Amino acid sequence: MRNKFLPYGRQSIDDDDILEVDKVLKSDWLTTGPKVSEFEEKFCKYIGCKYGVVVNSGTSALDIAVASLGLKKSSEIITTPFTFMATSNCILYNGLKPVFADIKPDTYNINPDEIKKKITSKTKAIIYVDYAGQPCDIDEIREIAKEKDLYLIEDAAHACGAEYKGKKVGNFADLTEFSFHPVKHITTGEGGMVTTDNEKLYEKLKLLRNHGIDKDATTRFGKDASYAYDMKMLGRNYRITDFQCALGRSQLKKLDKFIKRRSEIVKIYDEEFENIDEITIPYAKTNIKHAWHIYTILLNEKINRDKFFNSMKTKNIGVNVHYIPIYKFSYYKEKFNFNDNDFPVTEDVFSRIITLPLFQGMKDEDAYDVINAVKDTINEFS
Ligand SMILES: Cc1ncc(COP(=O)(O)O)c(C=O)c1O
Repeated sequence: MRNKFLPYGRQSIDDDDILEVDKVLKSDWLTTGPKVSEFEEKFCKYIGCKYGVVVNSGTSALDIAVASLGLKKSSEIITTPFTFMATSNCILYNGLKPVFADIKPDTYNINPDEIKKKITSKTKAIIYVDYAGQPCDIDEIREIAKEKDLYLIEDAAHACGAEYKGKKVGNFADLTEFSFHPVKHITTGEGGMVTTDNEKLYEKLKLLRNHGIDKDATTRFGKDASYAYDMKMLGRNYRITDFQCALGRSQLKKLDKFIKRRSEIVKIYDEEFENIDEITIPYAKTNIKHAWHIYTILLNEKINRDKFFNSMKTKNIGVNVHYIPIYKFSYYKEKFNFNDNDFPVTEDVFSRIITLPLFQGMKDEDAYDVINAVKDTINEFS
């Protein structure tokens, strides 16, 4: 058994990253300086999109993405229940109503056919999440949006560097959100980005990040700057610091290498698990490039997931469950009275799924520790 606990996810920070952060800490700009726009520019260049607005978390990115659409208060937004709560909390922050559509049994991504069933005259947008780093059925979702005149927001918190039909995620929806939390592919400690090709939305996103103020720091605080500024709309303070952006810029250089390493570990897992009857390995479509944020397996009915979870933890393996469906949380239940039976696929997947450790800093030996722990735990059940 492993002596040291292996977490399910972890950042990789090297000396180059530390050097870049150090330089900024010794510079004149700690926040809202040149590293912010440099990170935005380099990120957009990597994605191949026009505009990026970097903020202090993926959650903030989602919030301003929704806010930038300026939807009427009674509007509904359709999303998946099988995600982190930030995906639907951003709908609530903006006084709108989340409507959940069930997921697909193979990818666990939102099911376009279920989206169609949930559309009403109040539906104004869809937020789709690329679960685990696998892009959704984007063509089908775009087709629905076009036909019904809906906005699209892609929650790509898991999918930084992923591709759909040869093109990087970040180019398909009206707005795409990324997260730079330490368990994600690249990190800024906390941080997030919204990308868009729409100039009007971009201008609004910048206002929303900084109180709705019409001037940025470079024009407000210089020697010749006037004190005057206007507040154009109700914004937030979601600014991110320059030293975080220096870290993000440095991390971005390694993103492709990180995804490659994650894919190598996935291959080791897949080969070891594919012939075990009790396990279904994750399904990856052929027309995408998976970013592999997390690796999840489905256990069959002979294995109790919660007992499996506890047993893995006693073996020092940091398993997790992604996700408790959002409609199960007491806040959502009390507010919206959702019925679990309306989401049969989510219910089934949630009851059997477990996340195994996956991050770029894992060695092959770590992967084999996980594999042995999984096999031993399955044997405990037979
Ligand atoms: C699918 C999804 N959306 C949004 C977020 C929010 O990102 P952040 O933690 O950077 O606020 C997360 C974070 O885990 C996530 O998994």
